[in-house]
Amino acid sequence: MDFQPLKYIYQSAGNPEASTLLLLHGTGGNENDLIPLAKNFGNNFNILSVRGNVLEQGMPRFFRRLGLGVFDEKDLQFRTHELVSFLKIIAPKEGFDLSKLIALGYSNGANIAGSILLLYPDLLSGAIMFRPMSPYKVLPTCKTEHGTPIFMSSGLHDGMVSPEEIKAYKDTLTKNNFNVELNYLNTGHNLIQDDISMAHDWLKTTF
Ligand code: MLT
Repeated sequence: MDFQPLKYIYQSAGNPEASTLLLLHGTGGNENDLIPLAKNFGNNFNILSVRGNVLEQGMPRFFRRLGLGVFDEKDLQFRTHELVSFLKIIAPKEGFDLSKLIALGYSNGANIAGSILLLYPDLLSGAIMFRPMSPYKVLPTCKTEHGTPIFMSSGLHDGMVSPEEIKAYKDTLTKNNFNVELNYLNTGHNLIQDDISMAHDWLKTTF
């Protein structure tokens, strides 16, 4: 199968030095979803918001799954390479600096962001992952040289993934030199205001 382009929205911050937020929606979302959320982080970031190329009963996703929380890992790898190849094409076309790309993903979007970190450990300059879970049953070796900063927020009552699983995912990333901040919030899989304010503070102190 050949790589397909992804539908996207790009909004420039109008500053050649700006970092770019790569917005990755959850299952059933699209490229419009996370733009209002990203506006909470100020006007200093370019925004690149993409739509997943996979459809599950009409719902866009970034990769196929075999069941709830059971991923088609072969498709996940393919879709990760497809997305990264697309980013490399779109960066010079839209005029943003690929070395200043920060992923911001929710749920399924956080999981493909995690897969980018694992398969391309030095591509992203940071990642915000809301309600992530480990993208692979056995994580590939993924050492980064750069101590890439990662913000994770996880729901204590999330039916998809337990706090222990998230802790194990975090620990593996930390062992591979990622600089992970993991926050547990008193909620389920849905996003709450605390996700946004904590990610806001993390972005401000980290970049
Ligand atoms: C996934 O499939 O990536 C996770 O189960 C979360 C989701 O429902 O999108």
